[in-house]
Amino acid sequence: MIRVYCFSGAGHSLSVAEAIAGAAGAELCEIGGDTVCEGGTAAVVFPVYCEDVPRPVRGFLRRSSPEYIFYVAVYGGISHGNALIRAGREAMRGARADGRPVPVTAGGAYIPSGHSFLEEHAGAASDSEEPCAGQTARLIAERLREPRPAETGREGGPMRRSVFAGLFPALRSRAGVKIVRSELCDGCGICTAACPLGTCENGICGRRCIRCLRCVRVCPRGALTGRTAPFLERWLRKKRHECAPRLFL
Ligand SMILES: Cc1cc2nc3c(=O)[nH]c(=O)nc-3n(C[C@H](O)[C@H](O)[C@H](O)COP(=O)(O)O)c2cc1C
Ligand code: SF4
Ligand code: SF4
Repeated sequence: MIRVYCFSGAGHSLSVAEAIAGAAGAELCEIGGDTVCEGGTAAVVFPVYCEDVPRPVRGFLRRSSPEYIFYVAVYGGISHGNALIRAGREAMRGARADGRPVPVTAGGAYIPSGHSFLEEHAGAASDSEEPCAGQTARLIAERLREPRPAETGREGGPMRRSVFAGLFPALRSRAGVKIVRSELCDGCGICTAACPLGTCENGICGRRCIRCLRCVRVCPRGALTGRTAPFLERWLRKKRHECAPRLFL
């Protein structure tokens, strides 16, 4: 049984996961607070946040025990650090702590995509964007159908982790991006239910907010806007570069 598990804030990882699930004919499952994977082959698709694995994905990897895992890290064209290796480590730690067999790594991919903080309407992945072009999705799907052990690149590779990556990442994101609620909000609670950190109260973001921008994406009334501070926007535009997907099979 193949399943594609996905965590996505602004929707980029979701479109990658949909492409892979479509190519593999696999079920797509959203990673939520208690999602768990037991047995079978899993592709785990997640965004790179501050060169790391988002907290909800770390929890999912620690409690899951598929036989094979293929890791897919979607990033904004700045730097992916060692996100694949860090994801593999979480799965290994969880398994060892519970005395379960460590899931076998079946491969990995770094896939460049739009940057959540640079979209014209931050939080909405543009329709024209095709971050996981057919060929990459097909190669990943082939490996999922016939999994075998693989490496996910060496730590400190071409994009080594920056020394600032681990420095109060949530605080830095909050300082650079504000989420503004307009009078269009009718208090429906959809964003509250969708927040992966349980820190959104009808469009008001609490202290645990990681600026994933999911609340912005799901609001049916367009009442939320993510505003990137000019200093951050300038820095991101300068740092961003054209890059191709990197596959480890
Ligand atoms: C909090 C946060 C931190 C991010 N950190 C990085 C980063 O370190 N390097 C990078 O290239 N992109 C970074 N990005 C951009 C995302 O990796 C990219 O936009 C990704 O496609 C988002 O996927 P999602 O829409 O599924 O959440 C970050 C985005 C957010 C929201
Ligand atoms: S989803 Fe939008 S309209 Fe509904 S409570 Fe949240 S901000 Fe308000
Ligand atoms: S409140 Fe923060 S953590 Fe929750 S969905 Fe919105 S941006 Fe993400």
